[in-house]
Parts: sequence; C-alpha cells; structure tokens
Amino acid sequence: MLSLLAASACVLVGCIFVPSAEVFRLSDQYLPLWNETPGQFSDYSVENGKYIIDPWVYPKRMGMYKVLLNKTASYFEKFAPDNEQNFLWGLPLQHGWQYKTDMNYFLCALPFLAAVDSGIMGISSDQVLLLPPSKDQTKFCLNVSSCQSSFPSTMRKWNALYQHLQSPSSSFEDLLKYLWEAHVSSLKDGYKIFEDRLEYYSKPEAGFGRDWCVVLDYLAAASFPTIFSTVSEFQQALPPRVLVDGDKAPFISNFTDLQNILLLGLNLLHKVDSATGSLSLTIWKILMKTQAAKMLLLEIFEAILAIFNPTSLG
Ligand SMILES: *[C@@H]1O[C@H](CO)[C@@H](O)[C@H](O)[C@H]1NC(C)=O
Ligand SMILES: *[C@@H]1O[C@H](CO)[C@@H](O)[C@H](O)[C@H]1NC(C)=O
Ligand SMILES: *[C@@H]1O[C@H](CO)[C@@H](O)[C@H](O)[C@H]1NC(C)=O
Repeated sequence: MLSLLAASACVLVGCIFVPSAEVFRLSDQYLPLWNETPGQFSDYSVENGKYIIDPWVYPKRMGMYKVLLNKTASYFEKFAPDNEQNFLWGLPLQHGWQYKTDMNYFLCALPFLAAVDSGIMGISSDQVLLLPPSKDQTKFCLNVSSCQSSFPSTMRKWNALYQHLQSPSSSFEDLLKYLWEAHVSSLKDGYKIFEDRLEYYSKPEAGFGRDWCVVLDYLAAASFPTIFSTVSEFQQALPPRVLVDGDKAPFISNFTDLQNILLLGLNLLHKVDSATGSLSLTIWKILMKTQAAKMLLLEIFEAILAIFNPTSLG
C-alpha cells in the first residue's frame, strides 16, 4: 500500500524520486523565506510564560508551520525518511502561494493550536498566544481555549488527526482522511465568516474563491496526498497571482495553458456540482472509495501535467 503511494507520488514528479536534498532545494522556490523563518518555539518572544506569535507577519506565520512540521516529523519516519511523506507540507506550501488571505488563518491557527493541545508540540495548552490582526479582531481566535469554544468541531477534527498520528498502527491512508476532514472543516469555518468579504475582491477572484471551496470537497474525497512533491507540482497549475477584472479563463494572456485550463475546469466542476445539487459529489465519493481509483486519479493528474508541462518534471 505504502509503496503504491510512494510510487504514485513518484509518478507525480515524473518518476524521479525526490531525495531530501532536493526537497530542501525546492523549499526556496516554493516556500519563500523558509530558511529565514523561526523553526522552534524559542525563536519567538515570551511574555508571562507564553510564547507570543504574530501570525500576521509572513515569516512568523510560516514559522508556525515550520515548528509543526518539525514536531510531527518523527511520526512520519515510518512512511519515508526526511519528513518527505509529511502531509502537513501542503499547509505551508499553500501559504507560500496565497499568503495574507484571511481564510488561510484558519488553516494555520487551528491546526497549530490543536497540535499544541494534543501534546505533540511539547508545550502545554496555555503556553502560546497569537496576536490579533489590526482589524476584525473579534473574528479570530488567538489561543487554544478560545479556538476550542469558537470552532469546537474543527478543533476536535485536528486533534483527532494528531491523536491518530501518535498511534503506531495508523496507516497513511487513514491519516490522510483525518487530515482532509480537518482541512475542509477549517476552510468552511473561514468561508462562513468571510463569505461576505468575497465582494471586496474582483469578480474573477471571488469566483475562484467559491470554485476553490467546492473543489476542495472533491480533492478531500480523493484523499489527495498533500505531501511536498504533489502539492508543489499541483501549484504550478494554480493562478500565480490574484485575479483581476477582465481575467477570463482560458484566455488570460500571461497565465500558462495549464493554469488557464485548470481555472476553467474548476469553474466547470462548480457548475456541475450546483446543477446536480451535489449529486456529482456523492457519485464522486462512491467512485473514490477504492484505493485503486485514487491511484488512477493521481496518474491521470500526472498525465495532464505532463502534457502541458513536459519540461518541468524532474
Ligand atoms: C527540529 O528542530 C530541532 C531544533 O532546531 C533540530 O535540532 C531537529 O533536527 C529538527 N528535527 C527535524 C526532524 O527536522
Ligand atoms: C484565551 O483567550 C481568551 C480570549 O481572547 C481569554 O479570555 C483567555 O483568558 C485566554 N486563555 C488563556 C489560557 O490564555
Ligand atoms: C498580465 O495581464 C494583466 C491583464 O491583462 C496585466 O494587467 C498585467 O500587467 C500582466 N502582467 C504581466 C506580468 O505581464
């Protein structure tokens, strides 16, 4: 099973196994300033016995992911060396892609604070405090207890992931399921709070935000492995900047063909989902019940990347 997964990850990167040196060379490209971000709690300031973290400053937020990746590394050793199969890589990679968006906060604070609460970060629940943003302060929870009372269900889901992570008998596929449940739940929390905010974005960007929210349900059902190699490949297909008025896929002149097609595809998927009242999602979930189907999907995905991007792999 695992070797199958490793093989499919390998298929995704053009059948060249990415050794760890490669991963960290890639880090610079996909994770701006990764090497300069804080990597342990002691890099943050301390007040009244609490680590104070300002998640509104890019490197400080990136540092939260770095600590999380560091503290969870030991649980992924049984799957592959050098933290390569750690599916939490998807979080900082997404942050590198779309930093400073409000919704990303819920994919940072909640997984991070739930990890603290679960005990795997090596500090106690009341030992860390996040700083509020300059406005809309009441919409954000800043410590373990306030996040638990504002977002109980999502915090429970992240905690469930970390509990299972610590169990030696958990399989990679099971863990991915817990990850995706927690991930989707975080995003929906953020979406509920900031849905009205989408009006402040350009029409194409707001549309992309809505499409993205629907598409995540499909990625979740397929247990898309959010390890470094797959996510960094996938992100080449995502828009490299915020969409502006006048951007219309597949005709955005300075986007690659792949980026144009993906945008069009995401929108089409959203339309199909709406038109069928999410019956399409139900069917998709049934299709994705078997591991073979998930593998096939990854291979198709790889084939598509290869068509559009023959030189980028490897
Ligand atoms: C975690 O961070 C510590 C302190 O910086 C470092 O010594 C250790 O090697 C890191 N572990 C992993 C698995 O990256
Ligand atoms: C957590 O934050 C809430 C509200 O921001 C505050 O009332 C509470 O005292 C904090 N709890 C801890 C343990 O720091
Ligand atoms: C990309 O296209 C947009 C819209 O046509 C334009 O405003 C922008 O300057 C272009 N960017 C680059 C880097 O060419």
